[in-house]
Amino acid sequence: MSHINVDGKQLETLELFEVEEVRNDFPILKEKFSGPKNSVLPLVYLDNAATTQKPQQVLDAMQYYYRHQNANVHRAIHKLGERATAAYEDSRKRISRFINARSHREIVFTRGTTEAINLVAHSWGRKLIGRGDEILLSEMEHHSNLIPWQLLAKETGAVLRFIPFSRSNGTLQIGHLEEMINERTRLISVTHMSNVFGTINPVRGLIQKAHDHHIPVMLDGAQSVPHLPTDVQELDCDFLAFSGHKMCGPTGIGVLYGKEKLLEEMEPFQGGGEMIGSVWLDKATWNEVPHKFEAGTPDIAGAIGLAAAIDYLDRLGMERITLYEQKLTTYALSKMREISGMRIFGMAPFRGGVISFYLGKIHPHDMAQFLDSKGIAVRAGHHCAQPLMRKLEIPATTRASFYFYNTFSEIDFLIDNLKQALEYFGYGTG
Ligand code: ALA
Repeated sequence: MSHINVDGKQLETLELFEVEEVRNDFPILKEKFSGPKNSVLPLVYLDNAATTQKPQQVLDAMQYYYRHQNANVHRAIHKLGERATAAYEDSRKRISRFINARSHREIVFTRGTTEAINLVAHSWGRKLIGRGDEILLSEMEHHSNLIPWQLLAKETGAVLRFIPFSRSNGTLQIGHLEEMINERTRLISVTHMSNVFGTINPVRGLIQKAHDHHIPVMLDGAQSVPHLPTDVQELDCDFLAFSGHKMCGPTGIGVLYGKEKLLEEMEPFQGGGEMIGSVWLDKATWNEVPHKFEAGTPDIAGAIGLAAAIDYLDRLGMERITLYEQKLTTYALSKMREISGMRIFGMAPFRGGVISFYLGKIHPHDMAQFLDSKGIAVRAGHHCAQPLMRKLEIPATTRASFYFYNTFSEIDFLIDNLKQALEYFGYGTG
């Protein structure tokens, strides 16, 4: 794996941060569990693709909001309401700058990636998709970038088609794109980084090709935005969805980025307060974007917490985070490959710190339980990607996933315990 980011830019020369200093910002990383024979197990958290831990700065920002700013937004004329609205809208602007959107009007707050994709399927899809129209996805999608389109297809008679992935290394077979696009293709929606393989998909070329045919592209950025520098103008994606909790922010808040022109064309998602212009008993007009898509009281504290997380990531530097995670992942992969009986799913040349594996005949759930008994948190299961697992002809994998606060010694500890698992389950280390 080469240490370059998706832009092909060499990052090797960047000076990295002190990981131990970074870890001090995360109170939960000091948690310990009781182990066998009165032993104490420090937490080794390797389940970052599921959710990430929160630095004190994010916890403080949310507490500050509740202690000093808490009021509803966009409604009150009192001073506290003005504070809350200013903090909420300022968060939108900071998020907009983080992904280099043209305007903060292109940032819609959602509950997470899943809701953002459902929003597009509902509000863009139900307006613009008809019987026989085609939506192009990939075979490696998380259920959240599959089911919303299945629901849309069922309702409208649209057809879903899937860009295949290679079973040997988990890369998208992008060469098929040209032959799959036709005059009925209305949208392409793919993951930027696979939550199972770690593959970073070549989305820039895909977007250019799609745009040559005037097809908009939606990216599921749940796994990419937390780990890679993201510039929506450079990528030229039409929609991008991501979640706060996978990037040191709180749960329950996420973002839909959409080009303003597309957001303007779309119908509302949910109805209620705040998303309206004027309301009569029998009709209504809509607020301007992005408020048209934010019915009801939003997650104000969540938005403020996400902006604090973004400030934190910005201070470390997204390029540094990418480089550090690449080094950690390269190290982990090389050590894991030395273990006999190890099968790793996903060996793309450009990949992030998500490693799915199967060791010997140890069932992934048994493996996860064994590692948990050592204080190591990983995920086991189908990772919300059942069609992908079906194609690999396996029911599940164990998955270790990293963030910038993980250390090389944690990787060593994982490797030691993978070897111990082989002994424990009676397969020997070969
Ligand atoms: N999407 C998250 C994962 O893959 C929950 O673990």
